[in-house]
Amino acid sequence: MCGIVGYIGNRPAESLLLDGLKRLEYRGYDSAGIATLHEGQTYLRRAPGRLDNLKKRLQNNPALGNVGISHTRWASHGSPSEQNAHPHQFGNIALVHNGIIENHEELKQELQQLGHQFQSDTDSEILAHLIARYCEQTPDNFAKAIRQALTRVEGAYALAILDTKHPDILIGVKQACPLVVGIAEGENFLASDFPAVLSHTRQFYILDDGEMAILTASHIQITDLEGKRKTKEPITLNWSPAAAEKAGYKHFMLKEIFEQPQAVIDTLCGRLDHDKIEQAFLGIQIEHLSNIERITLIGCGTSYHAALVGKRYIEALAKIPVEVDFASEFRYRNPLIQNNHLVLGVSQSGETADTLAALKLAQSQNAYTMAVCNVLDSAIPRLCNQSIGTFYTHAGPEISVASTKAFTTQLVSLYLIALLLGKQRGTLNSKDLQRRLENLYSLPMLLEKVLEHEASIQQVAKNWLKSEHMLFMGRGFLDIVAREGALKTKEISYIHAEAYAAGEMKHGPIALIDDKMPVVVLAIKDYLYEKTLSNLEEVKSRGAQIIVLCNEDDQKLRSLYPDALLIPSCPPDLLPAVAILPLQILAYHLANLRGLDVDQPRNLAKSVTIE
Ligand code: AGP
Repeated sequence: MCGIVGYIGNRPAESLLLDGLKRLEYRGYDSAGIATLHEGQTYLRRAPGRLDNLKKRLQNNPALGNVGISHTRWASHGSPSEQNAHPHQFGNIALVHNGIIENHEELKQELQQLGHQFQSDTDSEILAHLIARYCEQTPDNFAKAIRQALTRVEGAYALAILDTKHPDILIGVKQACPLVVGIAEGENFLASDFPAVLSHTRQFYILDDGEMAILTASHIQITDLEGKRKTKEPITLNWSPAAAEKAGYKHFMLKEIFEQPQAVIDTLCGRLDHDKIEQAFLGIQIEHLSNIERITLIGCGTSYHAALVGKRYIEALAKIPVEVDFASEFRYRNPLIQNNHLVLGVSQSGETADTLAALKLAQSQNAYTMAVCNVLDSAIPRLCNQSIGTFYTHAGPEISVASTKAFTTQLVSLYLIALLLGKQRGTLNSKDLQRRLENLYSLPMLLEKVLEHEASIQQVAKNWLKSEHMLFMGRGFLDIVAREGALKTKEISYIHAEAYAAGEMKHGPIALIDDKMPVVVLAIKDYLYEKTLSNLEEVKSRGAQIIVLCNEDDQKLRSLYPDALLIPSCPPDLLPAVAILPLQILAYHLANLRGLDVDQPRNLAKSVTIE
């Protein structure tokens, strides 16, 4: 989600607004901007890319004044660029906006008929024009004019609005997107999230849907959208700034596990419009993808596991042969690069040395390159943007070394790429594409359902806390999920956890089985269920202690194995993203109960920028 900061008080606004955006960087963004008012003039500065680019703009052209608004944006309507960055200004009005205006096209046409011209591709700019129009009609009452304008608006918004005609007022409005009011002495704040202003105040009003906050330096008035005054009790937030960044969770990893529904929403948000899947690829040279005859997916660790899932998506939906390789292997095996060959690098950080080097090698041999990445303007996107480009996961920064929300949003991204390739090749008809996109929209709700089982998964972790070894096994997608689950467990709990394709056990690994070996069997009611149950019996008959990951409605397995990790039934393509969550939670609680440093495990770094 994008970030909003507003300030009105007795101090220069610029540095406070920039500092607030800095504290919201964890939300992820691809452009940023600021607007302040001073002596009847609006100072508007915007820049694509990281906050440092905006700071450079301000060094030569500072934004003066003690009242202002600022914003970090993830592109939804319109690609990441200066003209699409917020704030948007028209006439005396400047505003920043989180959310989506659903009837933006209708409003745009109406305003164009009145002579309005637009500089950006965003729905937010339309809002600035609309509000300015109503302010012209009601010049004496800034708040009333905004309320009147918003009666025309359908959709979700968190707004911070300035008017050069009313420099002593800052207005915030909340409808379906978070917005809080920071209360301080001689100054007041607006923010999309507490960390932005927690270093200045711990007193907040949390705005509810349909509420407007009218701020001056010394006073705050809250009304509904009819103008009726509302009284609210302020809250005192006792979090430290560090805890605020963890949003009250004990570890970043648990926060990031629970952020996954929102991370998926943010990765999909504003990118899909019915079956116009191409819209999800703004700024990416997708025309080259239609000629691709061979694909190599590369990555490391969790990103490699995401690539394994991506292979199955692309081969099934686009019928293109896909190989998957560890980036560290690809770069040294003298790979065969052929014509119309795409090498796609998957990376959360965008800085992993092996993945970067492998992509450079591919590019040097005239392969097309592309990236799926979570960090804007990092090394791998900068390289791949010289070729086809980067599909950004909008997971927001992932702080914990163990990758969780990056993995699920990588799966969503690779699925969208597979759908695009299938549409381009005609291996996917419009009806099937639409059905699969609708399934994808159900993923956040499915993830929420899994997260409801956290307490029972924590109990499973307690039961197996003393294990020295663990084996994970599954078939098909669940073989890959087993590998990712084993990686999570080994890297943060230090339990020696391994994964094998369930059908592979009898070819050697079953020799490991005895009554001290817990085996996590991933058995979902799909076409491989019966085969997996046979594999379960193979290890059980040799004494293994069984933990099953199964469907919530699988009464047979749940009655046989009380330590069940449960997931809802889901569309087959979404199974990897749904099934990994219980294993992430299991790994987290094993490590936490062992008193280990969950977010910073021994010997590991968040981004492996060396070979
Ligand atoms: C996963 O939990 C690990 N942190 C690690 O395997 C990671 O996935 C790997 O180092 C790749 O990092 P990247 O996605 O940033 O390229």
